[in-house]
Amino acid sequence: MPVYSRADIQFERGEGSYLFDLDGKRYLDFASGIAVTALGHCHPVLIAALEAQAHKVWHTSNLFRVPGQEKLAKRLTELTFADTVFFTNSGVEAWECGVKLIRKHFYAKGQPERNRIIVIEGAFHGRTLGAISASKAEKMVKGFGPLLDGFDQVAFGNLNELRAAITPETAAINIEPILGEGGVKPLGVEYMRSLRQIADEYGLLLFFDEIQCGMGRTGKLFAHEWAETPPDVMCVAKAIGGGFPLGACLATEYAASGMVAGTHGSTYGGNPLAMAVGLAALDLIADPALLEHVRVQSAILRQELEALVHHHPAVFAEVRGVGLMLGLRCADGVSNLDVVAALHRHGMLTVGAGENVIRLLPPLIIGSAEIAEAIEKLSHAAIEIGQASRAKV
Ligand SMILES: Cc1ncc(COP(=O)(O)O)c(C=O)c1O
Repeated sequence: MPVYSRADIQFERGEGSYLFDLDGKRYLDFASGIAVTALGHCHPVLIAALEAQAHKVWHTSNLFRVPGQEKLAKRLTELTFADTVFFTNSGVEAWECGVKLIRKHFYAKGQPERNRIIVIEGAFHGRTLGAISASKAEKMVKGFGPLLDGFDQVAFGNLNELRAAITPETAAINIEPILGEGGVKPLGVEYMRSLRQIADEYGLLLFFDEIQCGMGRTGKLFAHEWAETPPDVMCVAKAIGGGFPLGACLATEYAASGMVAGTHGSTYGGNPLAMAVGLAALDLIADPALLEHVRVQSAILRQELEALVHHHPAVFAEVRGVGLMLGLRCADGVSNLDVVAALHRHGMLTVGAGENVIRLLPPLIIGSAEIAEAIEKLSHAAIEIGQASRAKV
């Protein structure tokens, strides 16, 4: 179906931070398949894990114990606030699991009227009916009604509005610690801490969507760790599978108390192939040396981007984000999509986002030489776009 506005580029293979198209043209990949290939392309450890599992068993369903699931769930719970995990094939399924879990928690507690979730304007949680109902963005919901009830939206960063939106029917607060699609906007450490206080004060569950900002992208395994504010429920996907479709909903035993046998399920979720890759990817991403690498490289990248904005004020207005989840807001009169297209010509991949931002989501293994190359390509694109806009005037 023609639902995507695709760039006319076809990739044949990838290697580390680079992709090669059918004509052999090389692209520096600062898109990572929208924050998925966090370990770069064709990482030998991930290939080995997938190959080894492919020779054993591909699929058995969740009618049986799946050893890889038990191992990956154990690793995830050891590394996080969570006690329990449900595996999915995508991000939005992990998010929906969180929503269902929250509703079931209060139902099981004898408070079925507490089924509403506060969400943030501009947030993105996926494309199922549930997730678009939470987003309420016109471009996503138009023509798809009736939508699902139960989501109350409040303005980004406005704690007064959030407090005012809490009613006896409120069950949870759901946020992306850093809005991705919404324009690479961090909610901030203080805001996150206040959320935890508010949730505790009103007996609400705190539900974080770390599908894009999690799994090492900010230089901590999960973005909320910067604020030291553990949630009660968290959905993860994208980088957790390094490119193999995998998502997970993590929760405390308390939050997941309603999720008993028969209440939820998936045929493929937690498939042995996905588990093998997920285990290998987690070992690499949770390595303190890799997280330190992300912090060091991201500081260099950010500094270079600030200088880029300084040198090209007619094209770039601002650097945003945390760690290697960075955004460049384009100046008024410059379209982010034109910048993305110009970068394609210069052999670099980025991702558009809301608020006229281009997202820079390099693999976490990015090196200094690749950062220098990215800045060079961005400068060339900025000069080209600057000249084109002056010609228009
Ligand atoms: C924050 C966030 N939540 C949810 C999703 C949905 O994930 P998926 O496309 O795997 O369903 C995305 C995808 O971009 C996302 O960025």
